[in-house]
Parts: sequence; C-alpha cells; structure tokens
Amino acid sequence: MKIKNIYFILLFISALFTACSSSDDTGGGTDDDPIIPDPIVASFTSEISGSDPRVLLLNNTTAGEDFDAYWDYGKGDGLIEDQPGIEEVTYDTPGQFTITLTVLKSGVTSTANTTINVDEDGICPNGDCGPSNGSGLKGATTTFSVGMITRSSLISSGGQHTQSLIADFNNLTSEYEMKMNIMYPSQGNYDFSAADAIVGFAQANNMDVHGHALIWHNATPPWVENFAGTDAEFEAMVEDYITTTVQRYSGTVRSWDVVNEAVEDGSNSLRNSVFRQKMGDNYIQKCFQFARNADPNVLLFYNDYNFASDSGKRAAIFDIADSLGNLIDGLGAQMHISINGPSAANIQAVADGTVTRGLKLHFAELDIRTNPEEDANVSALSSTKAQQQKDKFEEVVNIYNSIPLDNKFALTVWGLRDNESWLLDFWGVPDWPLMFDESYNPKPAYQGFLDGLQ
Ligand code: XIL
Repeated sequence: MKIKNIYFILLFISALFTACSSSDDTGGGTDDDPIIPDPIVASFTSEISGSDPRVLLLNNTTAGEDFDAYWDYGKGDGLIEDQPGIEEVTYDTPGQFTITLTVLKSGVTSTANTTINVDEDGICPNGDCGPSNGSGLKGATTTFSVGMITRSSLISSGGQHTQSLIADFNNLTSEYEMKMNIMYPSQGNYDFSAADAIVGFAQANNMDVHGHALIWHNATPPWVENFAGTDAEFEAMVEDYITTTVQRYSGTVRSWDVVNEAVEDGSNSLRNSVFRQKMGDNYIQKCFQFARNADPNVLLFYNDYNFASDSGKRAAIFDIADSLGNLIDGLGAQMHISINGPSAANIQAVADGTVTRGLKLHFAELDIRTNPEEDANVSALSSTKAQQQKDKFEEVVNIYNSIPLDNKFALTVWGLRDNESWLLDFWGVPDWPLMFDESYNPKPAYQGFLDGLQ
C-alpha cells in the first residue's frame, strides 16, 4: 500500500479516536478523567549540505517517542515516511519549495514547515538567491569565489581584459595598487585613486574585492623604510595607515591580506622587516588588531608562499595563525607552483591544517610554471607541457573544491594572459603559466580548472 494511503488511514483513525474521546468527555457524564493526548509539536532543522549546495539536510527534531512522521519535500512526490537520522534531499530545479513535516501521536497531528528558494547554483542560503553566478568559471563554481588580478590601467582600457574579468571571475585583487608604496607614497599623503578605480569596477560588476596587501616588506615606501621618528611614532603611523585604508573600503572590500610574507626563507623565523624592527615581534598581532578595530566585519587573512612545498614554513605559518587567535579569519596560500610540484599531498596538507584550525582558506596567486627548468631557449608551450599544466590546474582546483563549505573562500589566479605574468620578469625566462594565451583564448589549463570542479 502506498505511504500516502497509510497516512490518510492513520489520519482518519486518529480523527475518529479524537471524536469518540471528546464525545465521552463532554456528553457521557461519567466521572472518568478526560483522556488528554500527549502534546506533540513537530519540529525539524534544515541545512544546506557542505559538499553539494543542491542538497538539503533535514533532521526531524520532534521531541518524544512513538510518533509517526511524514515529510512532504514540496517537490510533488507526496508524503514520504521519516527515516531515522538525517534525510538528504536534492533540489536541482530552480523554484520555491515548501517542506512540511507532519507528526502524529495519539490522535494529535502537528506540522512544521519551511520554504526554500533554489536557483541554478543550488539552494540559496537564508532564502536569498542574490545575483546569479552566471556562466564561465564563476558560474561553474557554486561554493567559492573565483579570483583574478587586475591593474587600474587595464580597467580604464576596457576591452577584452574587462570582458574576460566579467565573464569568468567574481573576486578581484589589485596586482600591486593596493599595497603601501602606492596607497601611502609619502607621509600624510594617501593616494587611493588606483584602488578606487579597481574597487569601483568590481562594485559595478557584482564582484567582491580581496584587498592585497596592507603590510608587505616588498612594497614598503622608502619613507617608511627610512622612517624619521620614534618607534612609538612609527607604530602610530602604521595604525593610522591601516585604519584609514580599511575604513575607506569598509563594505566594499570583503577581505584583506593584513600581513604578507612575514616568514623568512630558510630559518622560518620572522623576517626582520622594518615593521618587526620598530614594532616588535608581535607586530603581526598589532596590525591585525588595528584592522579588526577599523572594521569588525571584514575578513582578515595572513598570506605567504611556499606554504605547500616547505613543511617547515608551513608549520611556521600555522604558528602565526595560532598566535592570532580570533583576530584572523583565514590563511592565504600563494600558489606560485609548477607542473613538477608541490605534490598533491603537500597541497592537501595546507588545506588540512587550515581546515583543522577552523579558518578560511584562500588559494591565492595561482600560476603554474611550465618551464621550471628555466630553459632560456624554449619558444612555445608544447602540447605535452600544456597537458601537464592542465592536469595540475585540475589537481589544485579539485583539492580546493573538496574542503568543507565553511572553510571555502576563494581561489585566485595571478594573471589573465601568459604574456602579462609577473613570472616572466621574476625568473627572466619564457613561460606560459596562466589560463589564457596572448589573444585571450582559453588554454587547456582553463579546462583543467573546470575539470577540477567535477
Ligand atoms: C607582484 C606583482 O605581480 C608585480 O606586478 C609587482 O611588481 C610585484 O608584486 N607575492 C605577492 C604578490 O604577494 O603581491 C606579488 O605580486 C607576487 C609575489
């Protein structure tokens, strides 16, 4: 017999039972105590699955025992008997669905319900679908942002650069114009013009902004390196800089790298930057505190390189995170890697340590070198190397996509076209480390990114 039929028979019997007992109580005139059914109140919780945004996890939390319970998932499937444990229900068509739980006990029926909204990206958190992710890479990823860098000059030129940003990405990072040497070129004179242009473009196109980076030893203006004043004045200057910058972009910049690359290569101790010299070994904590005071809602990250390839450095970065307690929201792992490594296991170790700490993870600054041998004479990307690069992109994205939803944040690629990569200058040899060629054509690496989401 169909569950639906059983349900209606039960309802009928319980109604009859209620009718009989009530006629006894009111019309029978006996001295017996009235039969008072046990109160039963239906209740349940619903939560979007961390691994699949189309799946709703339903948990019947009705108090008491010996009751019957039935779900109506709102999808036209009729009534489904509640099973012990959590029900996993998939909603893969956009629309609005009302979920009802009916419980029956001793002739009493109680219902609870909730309504969800579903769009093409899955179940909308808190019912708020917001703007659709659309197509491209950002449309293929429903659980984290896809980031790209830009420059104010490229924004103002428009054309294919901005079209490509809009088509594939929903999180923007300034390649170098939201660093201290550009935003604070001389004492008392801030220059936010380039940053404003980038943030304005992002806002106009429904993209988030990841602020990169407030404190970086490699982008400190000369007047700060040669600061004329006491240590206390230096610290007050840094506080003013962080406060001014973070407050200016409060509500328009979602997240900041507060400190970038503080760990020294080799020793894994703190790099002896001017900030450490003038503010002390706890300068990182001070900077995070300034940023937190400036905006309690912005997400604060520590960002560094060789996080995956160097286990000693990884431990040092995790120590920094631990020392920051709840001042830090997430860790940024710069993914300047190559087709040869680091291994999937080492990349996974970054993810595992970050997840264990309950922090958000940013796979930041992804580029994958195809010429780690530094062959100065190579003139084109071979199809073998293009395939190896595609596989590595897939591996990185796959590792990122497999972390729990709560730890996800963004995966940012460090450059659009191969010929624009900072690595060409950095290593001084030819390379093709990105997802697009010089003509903005997607390379196999682009497909590797998509495959990593499967
Ligand atoms: C690089 C930019 O790509 C260059 O254009 C700029 O001249 C120097 O900085 N680690 C980081 C990034 O955190 O900010 C760096 O970006 C690359 C290495």
